[in-house]
Amino acid sequence: MLACAALAATAQAPAPYLDESLPADVRIEDAIGRMTLDEKIAMIHAQSKFSTPGCPRLGIPEIWMSDGPHGVRVEFTWDDWMWAGWTNDSCTAMPALTCLAATFNPDLAERYGEVVGSEARFRKKDIILGPGVNIYRTPLSGRNFEYMGEDPHLASTMVVPYIKGLQSNGVAACLKHYVLNNQEHDRDRVNVVVDERALNELYLPAFKAGVTRGKVWAVMGSYNKYRGTYCSHNDTLVNDILKKQWGFDGVFITDWGSAHDTREAALNGLDIEMGSWTNGLTWGESNAYDNYYMARPLRNLIAAGELDEKLVDDKVRRILRLCLRTNMNRNRPWGAMHTDSHLAAAREVAREGIVLLKNDKDFLPLKSGGKIAVIGENAVKVLSIGGGSSELKPKTEISPLQGIRDRFGDENVLFSLGYASGAPDYSRELPSPYDADSLREAAIATARMADAVLFVGGLNKNFSQDCEGDDRTSFSLPFGQDALIADLLAVNPRMAVVIVSGNAVDMPWQAKVPAIIQSWYLGSMGGAALADIVSGDVNPSGKLPFSIPARLEDCAAHAFGERAYPGVNGNVHYDEGLLVGYRWHDTRRIAARYPFGHGLSYTTFGYSAPRLDRKVYMPSDTITVSLTLSNKGSREGSETVQFYTSQKKPRLPRPAKELKSFCKTRLKAGESRVIEVRIPVADLAYYDDSLRRWVLDEDEFTIHVGASSADIRGKVSFRVAPGMALNTDIQ
Ligand code: GLC
Repeated sequence: MLACAALAATAQAPAPYLDESLPADVRIEDAIGRMTLDEKIAMIHAQSKFSTPGCPRLGIPEIWMSDGPHGVRVEFTWDDWMWAGWTNDSCTAMPALTCLAATFNPDLAERYGEVVGSEARFRKKDIILGPGVNIYRTPLSGRNFEYMGEDPHLASTMVVPYIKGLQSNGVAACLKHYVLNNQEHDRDRVNVVVDERALNELYLPAFKAGVTRGKVWAVMGSYNKYRGTYCSHNDTLVNDILKKQWGFDGVFITDWGSAHDTREAALNGLDIEMGSWTNGLTWGESNAYDNYYMARPLRNLIAAGELDEKLVDDKVRRILRLCLRTNMNRNRPWGAMHTDSHLAAAREVAREGIVLLKNDKDFLPLKSGGKIAVIGENAVKVLSIGGGSSELKPKTEISPLQGIRDRFGDENVLFSLGYASGAPDYSRELPSPYDADSLREAAIATARMADAVLFVGGLNKNFSQDCEGDDRTSFSLPFGQDALIADLLAVNPRMAVVIVSGNAVDMPWQAKVPAIIQSWYLGSMGGAALADIVSGDVNPSGKLPFSIPARLEDCAAHAFGERAYPGVNGNVHYDEGLLVGYRWHDTRRIAARYPFGHGLSYTTFGYSAPRLDRKVYMPSDTITVSLTLSNKGSREGSETVQFYTSQKKPRLPRPAKELKSFCKTRLKAGESRVIEVRIPVADLAYYDDSLRRWVLDEDEFTIHVGASSADIRGKVSFRVAPGMALNTDIQ
């Protein structure tokens, strides 16, 4: 007994910063009080390509980061953009985030985040560098496939559950790229000139939702500037909006190479500096870590008394809070890699995200038993690689050809490459090694022999084909696809075109093709999911997260000359203001080829007239709108009912309508169900940049209920009451 008592008496309580029974803030302040200036400085910048050093003397662990947002990227060598050559870092490649957005299914977004977080945890990563929620402003932007479309409500609604799902694994999500990264061309220097209304009503909301509702633990600054100052150390964006107004208590990190000044970095809210003197993709100065802006230069300014050490303390405080949430949290799960349930989630997101754009005479689903000719490089190309930092090494990637063969039987499926691109490269377009004419001839011959043709083309995440670092240089399909589609139609008009991309593309053949599918970079289970849809085993339910214009010049960003895109003299002017995407098409009455929110089903849905619970609301009220949705067809299906609002006489110009809610519902054949959504009246406010706050007018408003932004099935109007309504300050 004595020994035990003696042992108990001598056992020291752990130092407060290690004592898990103490509140986090007590532990954090205790650790800061024990750290030297050099130890604090070491924590706020990289020690390697993807890690920071922690504080070894105090047993505070390193922080390890990895790209996302569609899965856990391969392991890199310590100090350069080289794959480390591990054999156990293959992952489940989830579909790209545009596909997730196209599901309009927040529950799937949470499942998606759980999968990515679980595999990150298994790989011992503490931060996944994703999701991205920059608004889709031009169909040329190289990274739209990594983002969630053109509408702030859709992106906000989908990003919150993604973050919660990911962080449930004790891994931080890192919301990016804060903010206004809406093009890749000149991304590392372009200064975005945008009015405050558009900034607050379009470009900030998804970030605000991720921080205030998603409680994201990390945010990444973008490369570009806002009002002439780099976003990665921008006082207005970081200290004022992100940290003060939104109460962000996590870590604000740079993009790789997005810091440019020691004082600005120290004073304007940057907490961790990563990747300085790299281009974020292919090259960087070796082992420059002590020369980082927030390394020796900052230490010298503090030692000289020019900057206060307390600035560093706040950065370290946030980093330690991140550690307690992640690598110092003993209760976090262990994670898993490439499980059947992860693959099932990948397939589910892909199935629900595929969008059926056109289906004349029920051309789809394809009937079994006939000969199907699958034609196009995207039917066989591994598309989880490429695209830049979101590249993945998938343990599995079922190609569209494999998926179709598995579903319809090898003997019923012919294949021809049709066209070929060069190998993926982040800095230039490599020429194809194949002879285009012979590929075309072979494809035509194959199409002749088939009962139906499934053309699988699109973009492919090669350089300037949906890839980080620069934008597309054309709205058209590359590699001669348009001509090939015309040649194939000439010999076999029974053709469905599957576009795999993260952006809208031109479709000169649209009127001649009986069926068109907008598919995405679908990840590990893509081919199986596409076969699920094409065969009719699964009824398509995806809806477009962005507008597909008939012509590039019909897109707002391309209606104001070079100054609006890609910019002149280092400035890009968002002259369209609030009118991005369907907001532009609706307000300027320019019909899109396929509108935001569009997506067909193999069944049809009926909408009753919408009903309101009241006719007059106060600003603090919530509107309850309901309608009866009916499945009029002969098979089960899901429909996303969209609720847009418009204001009758706004004090400031507003878009014709704005998405404020949506509801995805699955109905059996013949089933009817009452759909009910609740819209806070406060969500009808707009940002008044002269008052610099949100305002809600006393006025008449209308709710437009639609199957897409252009297919409105019913409307109902109401009033917002007087009194409190005028100039109500809405947070
Ligand atoms: C890249 C990307 C960013 C990524 C980071 C690390 O430049 O812009 O999204 O997370 O560098 O690879």
